Amino acid sequence: MFPKSRLRCIDCGKEYGKDEVLYVCPTCGSLLEVVIEPLKVSLKQMARRPLKVWRYVEFLPVDEGAEIISLNEGGTPLYSCNKLARWAGVGSLYIKYEGANPTGSFKDRGMTLGVTKAKSLGSKAVACASTGNTSASLSAYAARAGLTCYVILPSGKVAMGKLAQAMMHGARVISVKGNFDDALKLVMDVSLKMGIYLLNSVNPWRLEGQKTLAFEVVDQLGHVPEIVAVPMGNCGNISAIWKGFKEFEGSGITEVLPRMYGVQAEGASPVVNMLRRNADRLEPVTNPETVATAIRIGNPVNWPKAVRAIRESRGLFEAVSDEEIVEAQRLIAALEGIGVEPASAASVAGVRKATASGMMDRRSEVVCVCTGHLLKDPEEVIGVCGRPLEVSPDLRAVSELLAPQIRM
Ligand code: F0G
Repeated sequence: MFPKSRLRCIDCGKEYGKDEVLYVCPTCGSLLEVVIEPLKVSLKQMARRPLKVWRYVEFLPVDEGAEIISLNEGGTPLYSCNKLARWAGVGSLYIKYEGANPTGSFKDRGMTLGVTKAKSLGSKAVACASTGNTSASLSAYAARAGLTCYVILPSGKVAMGKLAQAMMHGARVISVKGNFDDALKLVMDVSLKMGIYLLNSVNPWRLEGQKTLAFEVVDQLGHVPEIVAVPMGNCGNISAIWKGFKEFEGSGITEVLPRMYGVQAEGASPVVNMLRRNADRLEPVTNPETVATAIRIGNPVNWPKAVRAIRESRGLFEAVSDEEIVEAQRLIAALEGIGVEPASAASVAGVRKATASGMMDRRSEVVCVCTGHLLKDPEEVIGVCGRPLEVSPDLRAVSELLAPQIRM
């Protein structure tokens, strides 16, 4: 039922077995990817199953007989957004709303695969470093699987909703006085030393779950979109989505590929800087800063995969300011009724910026991946929207406040 799989280094090409616990190539130190031999299947056959991550089992590398750890993730809405399309100056704009996943972000797609893998390898504990969502998701899936979960967070920079999730799901939460990049380095070292299974996006099995976003978009839209806009932080998601589109095309299910559009926040845009310079190495940003704390990352581990996805797809890249992010976040919520966290809004802000500069054709059809739910970061919302008006509980006072706003 599941496809055969193995690990392969994206640089030296050396291959490793699916049961080896590796996060980088032992030969050259580069990133690893999962290679699968997809089983023969059509979209129509898969469409008999519910729209969820596990609809696509023929593409999901899981050991036969493995206990699947799932919270019913995936199957998120794809909203057609006409008003936002007009605002962004583009032919058509869709939002793939990942906030609708069980823990409120796209991470759940990866964690169902990653924690299933941890279980079938016999691990007792899992760990991650996180700007928040990875830890919220991993802690929930670890709870469901009965595994101990350790998370390392950059102190003071994780949105309250995400921290609340990790704590309530029973993770052991450690805050480090440093940024995400410091936390990731620490957790990689400690996981190897202590034999804890690492589930950051440097774990290639996790990305196999995240690639299902591409499959769902094809199913929901009925075709491959021209452009897929993705906010980039540690750069796992854009790489995973591109892999998904390539696997569908490679199996003959689709005939074309989209152009990937990677968007970063201006204060944390090492990949965009590198692509602008057309360089072949990343220069990390030492003190990344942005209102979009989810993507406040200066040294993204998956940059080689993301750069490959953008270059291979003849894609686009851009950095957006915090003001542009917040404006897009407010309009996504106010014009379309879709509540997203700041990092998610970077994809939509990026579309407006790209049409304004002429980088993106105004007739394009774009799917914007909105990665996380509005409720993740209530403090940011109060920061930009202010507090509600407060009056005494009397009819006159309330009427006076309402009167100018109601058109008779
Ligand atoms: N959007 C949100 C809401 C995120 O939480 C993240 C990453 C991204 C976008 C970027 O995805 O890293 O695959 O490029 N959050 C990670 C975390 C880093 O720890 O939760 P990416």
